[in-house]
Amino acid sequence: MSESLIIAEALRNAAQRLRASGVADAQLVAQSILAEALGCDRTHLIVNFQQPVPDDALDACERMLRRREAGEPLQYILGRQEFFGLDFEVTPDVLIPRPETELIVEEVVRLSAGIPRPVIADIGTGSGCIAVTLARELPEATVTASDISPAAIAIARRNAERHKLADRIRFIVGDLLEPFPPSPQFDFIASNPPYVRADEMEGLQREVRDWEPHLALTDNDDGLTFFRRLFHDAPARLKAGGYLLCEMGYEQAEKVRALVDETIWDAPQMPADLQGIPRTIVLRKKKEER
Ligand SMILES: C[S@@+](CC[C@H](N)C(=O)[O-])C[C@H]1O[C@@H](n2cnc3c(N)ncnc32)[C@H](O)[C@@H]1O
Repeated sequence: MSESLIIAEALRNAAQRLRASGVADAQLVAQSILAEALGCDRTHLIVNFQQPVPDDALDACERMLRRREAGEPLQYILGRQEFFGLDFEVTPDVLIPRPETELIVEEVVRLSAGIPRPVIADIGTGSGCIAVTLARELPEATVTASDISPAAIAIARRNAERHKLADRIRFIVGDLLEPFPPSPQFDFIASNPPYVRADEMEGLQREVRDWEPHLALTDNDDGLTFFRRLFHDAPARLKAGGYLLCEMGYEQAEKVRALVDETIWDAPQMPADLQGIPRTIVLRKKKEER
């Protein structure tokens, strides 16, 4: 990029390059990158089209453009993603939070009405998006966030600190529910587990396949391993009438539902996302012991 570029030219060049390397929403991504380089928001760019771009901002823009051209997701380049109205730090150690995961938060908030001090676990917390959002939405709740990845837990903790909620969340490194003693302590166990089948991995978008942690994406098997384990292990940790909520893949609803033992759980609820696809399974532990 030349020294004398103005914002309009820098944006045009960046968008052209991104388009040429197959990036979707090239114009929007170019704006996000240039805004980040200039330390402003995208609106500022639009109203200052004729302003020159300083050298250091052009250099920063160039570094980010090369990363995006190489396939790295914009969220890792910017180091953040919004979830439920909050900004979350993200690095390649954690999955980038997705909008469909907000459904789990909405369901826990809805179901917790009438439970005075809900006790909640978020299993496989990654960036901490579910745990941190629930701590913020439910000021009386106690939240535990766990993940098998120590690097993910470090980021989840930083996100809790960023939103001044760290004193409300306990962080644990461990394998699913193993760190928790088998005693009925939780009102809610929430999880967005790795559910991509091993044979689907190759066909994923390159941004996902080559950049997001495989530990967060797949069970390296049929995609159902974590549902089997959670459905089996969660009842011992849930109070009578407590809930297990899991996100599931686009076409997994029927297979996941078939794993539910209705002698332990009430009939499952499967609320749909904005496209009408069931993406969350909500299980309620029976109130009566068998
Ligand atoms: C799909 S990501 C979900 C991350 C975050 N909760 C979200 O919704 O964006 C799954 C998470 O489960 C974690 N994980 C994978 N295997 C695990 C295991 N055996 N026990 C606990 N966490 C595990 C991964 O490290 C990853 O952070």
